[in-house]
Formats: sequence, C-alpha cells, structure tokens
Amino acid sequence: MLIKPRTHILIIALSCSLFDAGKSSAQTNTPSLKEVFKNDFLIGTALNTQQIEEKDSGTVVLVPQQFNAVTPENVMKAAIIQPGWNDFNFKVADELVDYAAKHNMKVNAHTLIWHSQLPPFMRHMQNADSVKEYFQKHITTVASRYDGKVYSWDVVNEALNEDGTLRNSIFLQKLGEDYIVEAFRLAQKAAPHTKLYYNDYNIEQPAKRAGAIALIKKIQAAGVRIDGVGIQGHWKYNTVPMHDIEESIKAFAALGIEVMFTELDLGVLPNPWDGKTAEVSNTAEGNDKMNPYTKALPDSVAAAQAKAYADLFSLFLKYNQSISRVTFWGVADGVSWLNGWPIRGRTNYPLLFNRQYKPKTAFYSVIKTKEN
Ligand code: G3I
Repeated sequence: MLIKPRTHILIIALSCSLFDAGKSSAQTNTPSLKEVFKNDFLIGTALNTQQIEEKDSGTVVLVPQQFNAVTPENVMKAAIIQPGWNDFNFKVADELVDYAAKHNMKVNAHTLIWHSQLPPFMRHMQNADSVKEYFQKHITTVASRYDGKVYSWDVVNEALNEDGTLRNSIFLQKLGEDYIVEAFRLAQKAAPHTKLYYNDYNIEQPAKRAGAIALIKKIQAAGVRIDGVGIQGHWKYNTVPMHDIEESIKAFAALGIEVMFTELDLGVLPNPWDGKTAEVSNTAEGNDKMNPYTKALPDSVAAAQAKAYADLFSLFLKYNQSISRVTFWGVADGVSWLNGWPIRGRTNYPLLFNRQYKPKTAFYSVIKTKEN
C-alpha cells in the first residue's frame, strides 16, 4: 500500500504525541521535588561524570524531572580541573555547564579552595611563594572562566576543625590565617556575577558553628562579599541533630546571608568509629555487622529514615525565608559515596531514590511535608 507523504507525517506526529503522552504520564505519576518546593528553595543534587554526560540511563529523565540545581561531585575540584601546574582540564566541567543550561538548572560550582583532592604537585609544596602563586592563579582562572555560567561557587570548603579553629592545611601554613578572606576577595574580582559561599560539615555543631560565624564576620568586616553558607548535612538517619540545625539556621541567617543544605544524605549503616563497634570492623563477623543490609533495607529502617527526612524538611519549610537551596549528595542510593566510606564496598541507603532510581518511602515523606 502506498502511503501519501501527508499521511506519513500524520502517522509520525501521532506516534510522537502518543509516545510523549505515555512518557509524561509515567513521569507525572511521580511528584517532582523541584515543583513541590518551587516557592521554598532550590532542590539540588550532586552529579558524577556519567550523569553529566547522560550515560547513566537511570538519571537521564529523573534528574531534570526532580532537580533545578546541580553540584559537580568531583569534576570541578582542584586535582581534576588543574591536574598539573598551569595545566587545566575543563572538559567535564564545561559539559556540566552545558547540561545545566539545557535543562534550566543552576550550577553550584564546587570547590575552589579545599585541602583535599589537591593535585599531586600541590601536596608537598614547601615554597610559600609558589603556594601563593597557585592560589591566585587557580581561583582567578577557574572562577573567571565560569563567571556568568555558574550560579555560585563554594569558594572555600572545610577550612575549620571541630573546635572551630582553623584547620592546619597547606593554605593556612603557607599563606597565614587571612587566606580565606583573600580567597573570597580573589573570587569576587574574578566572578562578579557569581554568588560566593563558604561550605563545611558539622557547622551546625555549636563550637564549629561559632568558628564559622567568626570566619564569615571576618570576611564581611574586610568589606569582601560572601553571599551564603552551606551546611553539608552528612548525618545518620537516627541521630539527626535537629536542635543544632535549627539554631544554626537562625544564627547564620542573622548574618544577612543565605543558608543552604549542600550535601544532604542520611546514612543508615554503623560507623566503625562509634566506640562499641570499632574493634570488630576487620573481622568477618565485624564485616557482617558493619554491612547488615546487603539484600534490602528493612521496612523499620526505611520508615525511620523517612521520618527523619520529613522532620528535616518540615524544619526547612519553617525557615524557607532563610534557606535558598537543599542539595542531596548524589541522585540515588547505588551511586552514593557512602557505599565506599568509611568502609569500602558496603550497601548504604542514604538518599531519596533507590538502586533502581525509584522513589523510596523517604521521598514520599518529604513530598508530604508540603501537604501538612
Ligand atoms: O578519579 C579517580 C579514578 O581515576 C580512579 O580510578 C578511582 C580509583 O579509586 O578513583 C577516582 O577518584 C575518586 C573520586 O572520588 C572520583 O570518583 C577518589 O578515589 C575518591 O576519593 C573520590 O571521592 C570523593 C570524595 O569527595 C573525595 O574526598 C567522593 O566521590 C565525593 O562524594 C566526596 O565529596 C565530598 C565533598 O566534595 C566535600 N564534602 C564531603 C564529601 C563527601 O566526602
């Protein structure tokens, strides 16, 4: 049978629209985090290289459907973006910028100055002038390249000890205690259209929080711009420090800057450093105890994790005027860094989507906080 050209077009159009209808109804069955919280805060996720390059089939549809902000999990860190002295590799970082533009997402770039994941040539550098040269060149080159293309930078990451004093990093040793103010000053010059943040873990804890507040006030007193602070949020599902988190939101917001939760995950596995269990972590029995949910997450743990996530999001909603973004550290349980840390090869369940990229009980409990 001959099909006339016009009929042919009609068939294609019809089948495309049927396909689209099928696809969108499958998607609309699942609520969207970014839609549900669109009047409250951005909803972000960290992305790895596979996901940025859209080679991870589980995330191709899911990420644009659920998230309106993205943070590179590794590819903008110093060791990757400047692997050799004055030798920059922007490939995947550029791809991330294109990916975010295509999907109308904001990029939080992570991170300019961090003591970890430094390139090998930086790790044992003794000469203070060389460290200074690296510091200035790295910030200026990377931040200016992405000005106007990324929304924000974690300018300095994890500069504090638990007691609130400055971490004894190569930057502190060679550049002195004003290095953080200088990092923000250089970033402000190189990236005038980009928001500038300080990012750290455990800064909801009182002593470390006080250190962060002192740091932020010092930057502000120097007349240098800082737009926000990121509380990372790597907590355990059964010990989320709700009171400290609330106090921190209030204290940081009082400084006149944005508050963000930048690396949220609620792990469910025991920590070998939790006193009691430390001794057994190397034995076979210990390994079983340390990795108890290799087949599935028990319903009771899933329910407790869902409750912890709901409590957190209820708190975030209470302070939605102060909180500008909530970012999960990974898309789905199978790709979380917590499967490999602090013990390699475990099966953790810290996020809202499971290993099949399907929403978990915790996902629905988070969505529900908006209905209450
Ligand atoms: O790229 C190499 C690869 O070439 C090599 O084959 C492979 C072998 O292990 O390692 C790869 O590098 C790994 C890298 O992730 C990329 O996958 C590193 O070993 C590994 O240590 C690194 O871990 C990252 C970690 O930061 C490094 O400190 C995690 O993915 C990342 O989730 C984690 O993220 C940090 C935040 O940046 C800051 N806050 C804490 C958070 C969790 O630790």
